[in-house]
Amino acid sequence: MHHIISIRDFEREDIDALLTKAQQIQSLGSYKQTLRGKLVALLFFEPSTRTRMSFASALARLGGEAITVDSVEGSSISKGETLADTIKVVSSYVDAIVLRHPKEGAARLASEFSSVPVINAGDGAGQHPSQTLLDLFTIKENMKLDGIDLGLLGDLRYGRTAHSLSYALSHYDVTIHTITPKSLEMPQWLSTELKERGTEVVEHEKLEDIINDLDVLYATRIQRERFPDMASYARVANTYKITPETLKDVRKNLILLHPLPRAGEIDPAVDALPYAKYFRQAANGIPVRMAMLEDVIL
Ligand code: NCD
Repeated sequence: MHHIISIRDFEREDIDALLTKAQQIQSLGSYKQTLRGKLVALLFFEPSTRTRMSFASALARLGGEAITVDSVEGSSISKGETLADTIKVVSSYVDAIVLRHPKEGAARLASEFSSVPVINAGDGAGQHPSQTLLDLFTIKENMKLDGIDLGLLGDLRYGRTAHSLSYALSHYDVTIHTITPKSLEMPQWLSTELKERGTEVVEHEKLEDIINDLDVLYATRIQRERFPDMASYARVANTYKITPETLKDVRKNLILLHPLPRAGEIDPAVDALPYAKYFRQAANGIPVRMAMLEDVIL
């Protein structure tokens, strides 16, 4: 049985194979009903729009069906049931489970109790492998993954998309520029690990110091819900705001990505500029998640 829990479980060949599969699905245009008769549980114990709906859409396009739990309040977790028990039961109803959970490590735990494949759709500040795969897919649509300078902007302390993506990038020849307020720097253990894996990591606080030397700028939201208190959130909220003015001297081929939702980091006036690829990125969640669902179920 094959779970997708962390991008750390992927070798470069595994990533490239999944991206190629997603590319083939996308270029087909019409979809084969490869998952007809298959049921997938979408267990989302944290808010989600894109991830949940794109998994549901990807599944439906392949002929499968989703059954969904949308909140802790709507499930027996609110009666005190353990995640382990929920997973044991739900896995007897379906062919795969897609899980989003506020606690880091929840998906790994779920995979130990599940009788069907588990896909991690975000575990607290931990990992978000399906997002990472669609991020890489979107970069590859625009440029080669090797030899680029990529900026990671915003909340690299709590942001799971940045944690997942930066690890995946260490398989490629990418220089990572972190751009964060001091208190939201990437965890030390992660930047050390990236450097040990041969990735150059350069730290910045000001976006203007580096923006004109980037090929990719990956902006993230300050993760309000993961702060211990609102005063510490308020100190860093609104640190960055990308406007058309910010982008006036950037490289012509720069692409601007964001996992969304945005919370003020990117002015909507940027959406019309050729750099803005974040809505395309969200749309790429469909072929990438189709490839992932086929990969674990078939
Ligand atoms: C991200 C997430 O949930 O980590 N959203 C998403 O899945 N596209 C990013 C975020 O919430 O900031």
